[in-house]
Amino acid sequence: MTFDERKGMYYPTDDIIDQANVKEYEKRYQSSIENPESFWAEQAENLVWYKKWDKVLDDSDKPFYKWFQGGKINIVHNAIDRHLKTANRNKLAIIWEGENGDVTTFSYHALNREVSKFANVLKSMGVKKGDIVTIYMPQIPEQVFAMLACAKIGAVHSVVYGGFSHEALSERIRDAESRVVVTADGGYRRGKINDLKSIVNEAVVRCPTVEVVITVRRTRQEVYMESDRDYWYHDLESLPIASIKCETEETDANDMLFLLYTSGSTGKPKGMIHTHGGYSVYISTTHRLVFDIKPEDRFWCAADPGWITGHSYMVYAPLINGATIFMYEGAPNHPYPNRWWRMIEKYGINILYTSPTAIRGLMRYGSSWVTRHDLSSLRLLGSVGEPINPEAWRWYYSVVGNEKCPIMDTWWQTETGGFMITPLPIMPLKPGSASKPFFGIEAGVVDENHQPVKPGEEGALVIKNIWPGLAAGIYKDRDKFIETYWKKYEKEGWYLPGDSARIDEDGYIWVLGRSDDVIKVSGYRLGTSEIESALITHPSVVEAAVIPLPHNIKGNAIHAFVVLKDGYSASRELETELKNHVSSEMGPIAKPDEILFTVALPKTRSGKIMRRVLKARALGQDEGDLSTLEE
Ligand code: WT7
Repeated sequence: MTFDERKGMYYPTDDIIDQANVKEYEKRYQSSIENPESFWAEQAENLVWYKKWDKVLDDSDKPFYKWFQGGKINIVHNAIDRHLKTANRNKLAIIWEGENGDVTTFSYHALNREVSKFANVLKSMGVKKGDIVTIYMPQIPEQVFAMLACAKIGAVHSVVYGGFSHEALSERIRDAESRVVVTADGGYRRGKINDLKSIVNEAVVRCPTVEVVITVRRTRQEVYMESDRDYWYHDLESLPIASIKCETEETDANDMLFLLYTSGSTGKPKGMIHTHGGYSVYISTTHRLVFDIKPEDRFWCAADPGWITGHSYMVYAPLINGATIFMYEGAPNHPYPNRWWRMIEKYGINILYTSPTAIRGLMRYGSSWVTRHDLSSLRLLGSVGEPINPEAWRWYYSVVGNEKCPIMDTWWQTETGGFMITPLPIMPLKPGSASKPFFGIEAGVVDENHQPVKPGEEGALVIKNIWPGLAAGIYKDRDKFIETYWKKYEKEGWYLPGDSARIDEDGYIWVLGRSDDVIKVSGYRLGTSEIESALITHPSVVEAAVIPLPHNIKGNAIHAFVVLKDGYSASRELETELKNHVSSEMGPIAKPDEILFTVALPKTRSGKIMRRVLKARALGQDEGDLSTLEE
């Protein structure tokens, strides 16, 4: 890359451009926008279909769009089956390293065997097409097998991040009405065992629909198994019924592939629905073009499969594109802060995709942990989850990427399925900007009157058209989908992501962060209302308000304002107790950094908590318009 100091931009060198899968942006972008359906149909031709679609886009039931209507496809047919007929059969699909140093690899042939076995085990437990299986696992290959096994037989997976508490898990199992839960006896994290099975045991007590829990053995620690409900995967896998042959189910393009729960500004987490057809097309196209995927690439998406990043770009897209996935179980700094760099060197990783939080976290240990390793295999870097601050961008670029790897700062969401605003390797880069909309995506930044803002001014980010990765809806809640994403710009038919942004003279988009009551903490998405609800379940709390405040590593820290019931008084002990309470209700990621006791919260006359006033006060900023503030 070369740096133009006057413009503050980083330009790709000829070698990057020469090998890029996309050589030109503007013209191709224009034509993709003018005729998105033909653009996406052309991309869909890269996949194998049992039957081609009758209609590229069916918009007869807006905003529940149906892509590739009438088509028959299965994502696993594309992610595994088709590779078995080519030289890819013998190529590595997965390289996995456990935190404790265990290493396992699977060729595409072996992946197919493991997934087929898992699929037959699920079938033997009565799992049928359309059933929702909840997966709550550590980052081990079986987590990926379980996901693919569900998809293979047309069942739907709902992966719950292994860092969530039993409360959060049980809420998600209940909403999905899962009969079968897949878990493990634990996983390694920072040298300790993450006790997943006990959490499942506790969670399923309040889930009347759960009949079967399948447990994969990872740590061999003692776990409680209930007879007639709990089965060890290794026992089931050795039965004749778990044969290594399993037909892939021919699903409709618009059949559900998975549910993934994500936080919004109000109420409970929402189960976002993604489907086999449009999702496969969207993620494989974005992955191939943005990460410039080559057949020999070893691709590492350092996210947990429990989040959308893991679903789209750790599991499905790289497999569809026939790359080799690298997967790591544990903490980035275990046993030392060079763990990641050591693995990149050892396995010759070509592309690293991670979050600003992880970068900032590793940056604080200093550059020498990185530079002692030969990272010359790296060709491209990626960032996702929150805005990347230019300081972290430059460290990533110069220390990790040795000034030769472009950084793909990809903006997207659980709802969008895949990258929406992102550079391409051929584009000049501006640190901190996610650059431009991907092909087929029309993005804009608008003011309160829905008019485009002037360059440099802040406004609401909107998406003005429809794309195949867009979620098909929220599970069991049609109205919420409409209300959350489409109500505000009903007239225009735009999608509302809930982020604020700026757009500069060159058309580069700078995403600033959430403009609703969603908080990104270490890239994790949390709803302020969920944390507040968790606080209120503590006997001492009457009312609570939660706000994000800037944090050096985590991006945002959680600050909670709490009003106590009569008879309780503020103390250090109570503060710790409340923090731990939230952590056990929701999971450690939601643990507040700060609890502030107060006698009252600022509210509007209609009783709504004015979080922006709390935030402005905490930051010592102007409190803005207070005319609606109650006396
Ligand atoms: C929210 C979506 C999409 C995978 C991980 C997060 C923020 C995401 C960026 C980026 C600035 C970003 C937004 C968005 N976000 N990527 N590159 N630059 N902000 O998915 O958990 O659904 O969160 O993450 O605020 O709305 P998610």
